Amino acid sequence: MMSTAATGAEPRSDMDAKLQFFSSRGRLLHLIFTQQFTREVLEGLFDIAEKARRLYTSRIGAAFLKDCLPNRRALLYFVQPSTRTFLSFQAAASLLGMSTAAVTSTQTSSEMKGETPLDSVHTFAMYHDLIVIRYPEPGFAEKCAMRFVEAEAPKHIVSAGSGMEQHPTQALLDVYTLHREFYRRGGIDGKRMMIVGDLARGRAVRSLVYLLCKYSGVRIDLVSPDSLRIKEDMKQHMQRRGVEFRESASMQSFVNDADAIYMTRIQDEYDNQLPAGELDYGQCALNQDVLGLMKPNAVIMHPLPRRAEIPTWVDGDPRARYWEQVENGMWARVALIAHILECDLRIHSA
Ligand code: CP
Repeated sequence: MMSTAATGAEPRSDMDAKLQFFSSRGRLLHLIFTQQFTREVLEGLFDIAEKARRLYTSRIGAAFLKDCLPNRRALLYFVQPSTRTFLSFQAAASLLGMSTAAVTSTQTSSEMKGETPLDSVHTFAMYHDLIVIRYPEPGFAEKCAMRFVEAEAPKHIVSAGSGMEQHPTQALLDVYTLHREFYRRGGIDGKRMMIVGDLARGRAVRSLVYLLCKYSGVRIDLVSPDSLRIKEDMKQHMQRRGVEFRESASMQSFVNDADAIYMTRIQDEYDNQLPAGELDYGQCALNQDVLGLMKPNAVIMHPLPRRAEIPTWVDGDPRARYWEQVENGMWARVALIAHILECDLRIHSA
């Protein structure tokens, strides 16, 4: 049993010290931080995602997948709104034969009687092997994972979005989409990404930047209104990793260089925590002029949901990839669950 002194009752501040608790011998036990992914783990997950989606095209293959984790259960604890992440985790678990349950409101749980959220998760773990958590405050999924690390309990926590801080499985599916897109064009290494929108409060952006920094020669162009520029810690991270980046308030500055454009919506649900003030988001919206300046083989991505930053007429542009991202998200999560619950080698060998 790992002692409390060794792990600390509260999450430790040093990221490298934290990461070692959530992985073992190259395998993720919990997914809390995007920084946990190594290139080796990412490549392995992409291979499993590809294999699983190929298997699923036949009845025999789908039955094989369904037989991978029939005796394992997942609980989806989503106390912030979600469409894609919730449904894709549910679908991914089901594809692997897991049963799922969901708690999507604290109004109907014993938290109304004063139970702490941490005790609620401890309770879920008595019935389930995997707990997927979307939570408004950063640090909560980490605390849950630490509780199971300290107890050496064979339970697994996956963060499905933690406040403004991280969305590691969104970054996984984003990079999986880029991997598929650039597979026959030299891979992600050396590509130039333009990331547009609310870069101060978007957790998907932060997690994506962490993953892009793992690729060599990637350059990142950041476009946002002045009050929504990416935070200093992410700039320092890019500098430490030697990743070249530029900033502007206008897409026109960089769009003709971009191999991929990652659009994001304004995250005004966080206005009370980090107000954006008066701003013109029109510079962060696609229009005919911007599309006209894009490379013919560049791709347009978005974590969704979208607002006016991608008008629906853009859906017909052959460079739009955001609906493919949604589907890739399910297969990326199949691969992640298979990795964490250790049926990935079986899928790989099928
Ligand atoms: N991209 C994303 O996280 O979507 P949902 O909020 O619908 O899960």
